[in-house]
Parts: sequence; C-alpha cells; structure tokens
Amino acid sequence: MRALVTGGAGFIGSNLALELEARGHDVVVLDDFSVGHFENLRGFSGDVVAADVSRSPDWIYRVGPVDAVFHEAAITDTTVTDQRRMLEVNVEGFRNVLDFAAETGAKRVVYASSAGVYGAGPTPMKEGQPSQPLNVYAFSKRVMERVAADFVRDNPAMRVTGLRYFNVYGPRESFKKAAASMIWQLAGQIQAGKRPRVFQWGDQFRDFVYVKDVVEANLRAHETDAGGVFNVCVGKPATFNKIIETLHAVLGTKAETEYFENPYGFYQNETLGDPAAAAKGLSFTARWSIEDGIRDYLGGRKPALPAKVTPSGVTPAQAGAQPTAK
Ligand SMILES: NC(=O)c1ccc[n+]([C@@H]2O[C@H](COP(=O)([O-])OP(=O)(O)OC[C@H]3O[C@@H](n4cnc5c(N)ncnc54)[C@H](O)[C@@H]3O)[C@@H](O)[C@H]2O)c1
Repeated sequence: MRALVTGGAGFIGSNLALELEARGHDVVVLDDFSVGHFENLRGFSGDVVAADVSRSPDWIYRVGPVDAVFHEAAITDTTVTDQRRMLEVNVEGFRNVLDFAAETGAKRVVYASSAGVYGAGPTPMKEGQPSQPLNVYAFSKRVMERVAADFVRDNPAMRVTGLRYFNVYGPRESFKKAAASMIWQLAGQIQAGKRPRVFQWGDQFRDFVYVKDVVEANLRAHETDAGGVFNVCVGKPATFNKIIETLHAVLGTKAETEYFENPYGFYQNETLGDPAAAAKGLSFTARWSIEDGIRDYLGGRKPALPAKVTPSGVTPAQAGAQPTAK
C-alpha cells in the first residue's frame, strides 16, 4: 500500500514510517519540521513533503493518492497556551487531512488522540468516561475526536480510528526536548552524573507505553474494521520511583533521588488506562513492560541525551513533570 504519515519526522511518526517501510509499504512523510528532525528519518527512503498541514492546501497535490493515512502531526507540547495556533494546527490540520483522505480515495485514517482527554478523571481510564481536558492541547484532541465522528457520519465508507496514546517513550524522541518523556529526561540527568529529580515523593504514576507498541497499535488499527477511539496503554501503573529504579538497573548507575516540591497548583498525579477495548476492538495488547521497554531503549548503549541538562536546577519539564499527561 501507499501510506501517508503526517508528523513523520517526529518521534512516533518516524518510528511508524520506518516500520511501515520495513514491512514493504511505500511511505510518504509530511512534516513542517517545527519539531521533527531529518535525523529521525535516517534509513528512510520514501518521499518527504515539507508542509504545514493546517496552512498549505497544495500539500494535497504534492502527496498524491494514498491508500491509508496515519495522522501524527500536531503541536505536542502540552504547555503551549496559544489557543488559536493549537486549534489551527491540531483541529483544522486534522480537518484538512480528513478532506484529503476523502478527496484522494484513501479509505483508512488512523489518527493520534491522547490520554489527555481524560484529564484528572478516575482511573483506570475508559473510553466511555467523560472527557475533562485540562489544557488547550487536550481540548484540541477532544475536538479532533468530535470532528472524526462527524466526518464518519457524513462519509460512511471511510474508516477512521483515533488512538488515545498514554505516555509514550522510546527511540527518536530526543528532538522533543523538554516535551520528551520523563524517562528520557531522567536518563539524561543520570547519565550527566546528576541526581534524578522528581516531585515529592515519587509515588505519582503514569501508564508508560513503549513506542514499538504504539506503532503496533497503529498497524492493528489500520488492519481492523473498528472505528471510534481506543486507549493505547499498558494498563499498569509505573511510579516515578519505579522508573528511576529501573533506569539505574539498566544503566548500571546509582544515585540518590532528589525530591522537590511540586510548583504546579494543579498536577495530574496519576494516569492509568484500561486496555480492554483495544484488546477487543483492535486485537492490540501492549507487549512491552516498563522494564523490558527501558532495557530495549537504553540498555547496552548510551541514550541520546538532552542537549543540555541545566547545571543548577532542572525545569519541571526536565523533571518529567509536565503538569498533565499527553
Ligand atoms: N508522545 C506522547 O507521549 C504522546 C501522547 C499522546 C498523544 N501523542 C500524539 O501523538 C502524535 C505524535 O506525537 P510525538 O510524540 O511523535 O510528537 P512530535 O512533536 O515528535 O511529533 C509531531 C510532529 O508533527 C510535526 N508538526 C507539528 N506541527 C505541524 C504542522 N502544522 N504541519 C506539519 N507537521 C507538523 C512536528 O514537526 C513533529 O515532527 C501527536 O499527535 C501527539 O499529540 C503523543
């Protein structure tokens, strides 16, 4: 098949584009390179279209007909507060992608939503529970889901599936810098000889999902007939302390954790997904435990470190502490 991967120079998009190519597909990457980086596409031999998905309608002709679309392009930094830009890129960009699919005859669209739509809702988070977006990023993802549902109603021949990724980590995330996963931030601190820093007392938890599982979920979503939205999670909580313990075990390091006071008035202390609907609807179950994922990612080699670990004090984001999950 010929597939379009938007945001294909970014973290998840590049992993997906490379895997699709490895499986013999013809892949076109579209990215505006605002965060994505050519180094993520080392080894990729498909076409690359440089365009803003929300602004330059002519990208539709530059990409040409495809059989499937995997939509990853978005503003992914949850601390961005420019509402207009967030909604233009994430929502209007998505509308363009859906129109592109309808016009060029691509029957299948898989797009990235986010566990952010749950906000501080109860855990384990289930697809049917109310959405409580806590920032404009999460709000944009919630609106995307609404746009997808309306689109499918108007275009019943199309299959559109949204994947609510939980906290993703793995190779090719370094260009996200402060928005990269907490696992990457903490590994960077440890490798720089510093004490890992987390909020008091490290018992907060996240549902971390390895990028190889996220790629697999996209492929399953493409292969099945299921539409709607599905969690992409492991379904097991990993505390901040557990992450640090695992990093030391994998990196062969030792350092006492430094706990500091949480500066955020509001902080999402826990995210945990319910994987049951994806198991049923997409035949997808995450294969990588947190220990195996971190070992595969960082074991046996030095991680791609943050370009700069601030010598004194670490920003909340560097402590892996974006106030809400993605
Ligand atoms: N990484 C996570 O933990 C996580 C969790 C939930 C959801 N998501 C979603 O997964 C998708 C991929 O995220 P990621 O982690 O790979 O982040 P990323 O920032 O590495 O990837 C996003 C890519 O989109 C590109 N992009 C941004 N604006 C664009 C525009 N206007 N036109 C074209 N390209 C544009 C960027 O250059 C980047 O390459 C996003 O939709 C994100 O919201 C990620």
